[in-house]
Amino acid sequence: MADNRVTFGSKLGVILATVGCAVGLGSVWRFPYMLGTNGGAAFLLVYILFTIFLGLPVMLTEFFVGRHSRSNTVGSFRKLAPGTCWSWIGYNGILAAFLILSYYAVVSGWTLEYVWQTLRGSLYGPGHADYTAGFQTFASDAFRPIFWTAAFVGLTHFVVVSGVDKGIERASKIMMPLLFIILLVMCVRSVTLPDAGEGLRYLFQPDLSKLTSSVVLSALGQAFFTLSLGMGCLITYASYFSKDTDMQATAWQVTVINTFVAVLAGIMIFPAVFSFGITPSAGAELVFITLPNVFEQLPLSFLWSLIFYILLAMAALTSTISLHEVVTAYALEEFHMTRRKAAWIVSVSVFLLGTVSSLSFGPLKEFTIGGLTFFEALDYLTAKIMLPLSGMMTCIFVGTHIDRAVLKAELTNEGSVRFRLFAIYVFFMKYVAPVAIGIVFLNELGLLAWLIG
Ligand code: TRP
Repeated sequence: MADNRVTFGSKLGVILATVGCAVGLGSVWRFPYMLGTNGGAAFLLVYILFTIFLGLPVMLTEFFVGRHSRSNTVGSFRKLAPGTCWSWIGYNGILAAFLILSYYAVVSGWTLEYVWQTLRGSLYGPGHADYTAGFQTFASDAFRPIFWTAAFVGLTHFVVVSGVDKGIERASKIMMPLLFIILLVMCVRSVTLPDAGEGLRYLFQPDLSKLTSSVVLSALGQAFFTLSLGMGCLITYASYFSKDTDMQATAWQVTVINTFVAVLAGIMIFPAVFSFGITPSAGAELVFITLPNVFEQLPLSFLWSLIFYILLAMAALTSTISLHEVVTAYALEEFHMTRRKAAWIVSVSVFLLGTVSSLSFGPLKEFTIGGLTFFEALDYLTAKIMLPLSGMMTCIFVGTHIDRAVLKAELTNEGSVRFRLFAIYVFFMKYVAPVAIGIVFLNELGLLAWLIG
C-alpha cells in the first residue's frame, strides 16, 4: 500500500471511530448474556482483570502494528516480516471478521424488530406482558428475523459502499453520549425496582467457587470481543491514525469507556432480571426479554424504548461497518476489484451465513455442533478461539520481531509523548499475554489438569 493513506481528520475523530467500533452489542447485549450464563460476579472480576492486563497491552500492540506498517491486516504482517507465515494472523482476522459479522447482523436485526414493534405499539400495552414468549415467537419465525438481518446487512452495505461513514462518525458524536444517558436512566430505574439488591449482588459479589475453566475462557473471549481485538480491526484503524495520534491515551480511553458501558449494561439488566423473575442464564435473548419490562416501568415507555433501540441499532451499525470494512478492504486490495463489487460479495455471503445463524433460534434449533447451536458455535469459535489466538500470535510476533527501540519510538510518537510504563508494557505483551492466553486454552481443553498431574 502506498504511504499516502488517508488519516483521520481530528483527534476526536480517532477516538470516536475507535470507540464506535468497540462499543456495540458486545457490551450491551453480549456482556450480560455471558455474565448470566457464567455464574455472575466472578465472571465480571476475571473479565476486568483480562481487560486491563491483557486487553490493553494487546490493543497497544495492534495499534503499533497498524500505524507502523500503514497497511491492512494481512499487508501489515507482510510488510513487517516479508516472506514469512506471520500474515496468517491477518487471514485469521479476516475470516473472524466475516464470521462475526454474520451472526452479529442477526442480533442487530433484532434491535430493528424492537424499534418496529415499539413504533407499531405492539410491544407494550395489554396482553403483551409476556416478553419472553414474545421474543421466542419472533426469533423462531422462519422469515421475520431473516428479513431484519437482510435489512441490517443492507444498511451496513450502503454505508460501506457510499462512504457516508464520515456522516455516521459525526452522528455518533451525538448518539453515543445519548446512549450513555439512556443507559444511566435505565440503571436508576432498574436499581429502584423491588428486589434489585439481589441482582446487584449477583453482578458484584463474586463467588469464586464459580470460577471454572469455561468461565475463565468466556471472560477472555468477552474481553477480546468487546474491545474488537484479535481481528485486525484495530490494526486497520491504526493504519489511518496520524503521526501524532496519542495511541496510549486512545487505548486507555477506548478501554475505559467500553468497560464502563458494559458495567452500566450489567446494572441495567441484572436487578431487573431478578425483580421480574427471569433466568439470568437465559442466553442470547436475555437483554431482549428483560428490557421491555424495565421500559414498561418508566413514564413514556414508548419514547424511551424507541430511542433506546434506535441508539442500540446505531451502536451496532458502527461495529458492523468496522467488520464489513475489514473484509471489503482486504478483498478489494487483494483481488483488485471495485469497492462496490467487493462489498456486494461480502454482503451477500454474510447474509447467507447469517440466515443459518438466525434459523438456529427456530427451525434449526435441534441442529447442534458439540451441544451448541450454529449461532452459539460461531460465537464460540470466533470469540473464544480465533480472537485470543490471533491476539496471542500478534504479541509473540511483535515480541520477537520488533526492535524495542522501534516499538518505543512508535508508541511515544518519536519521544514526544511519555510512556512511563513501557518496560511493564513490554513484559506483559511479550510474556504475560501469550503465556496467560496459552494457559487459558490448555485449561479449557483439560490439558492443564492432565499435565500437572
Ligand atoms: N467490539 C464490538 C462490540 O462490542 C464488535 C466488534 C467490532 C468486534 N469489530 C470487532 C469484535 C472486531 C471483534 C473483533 O460490539
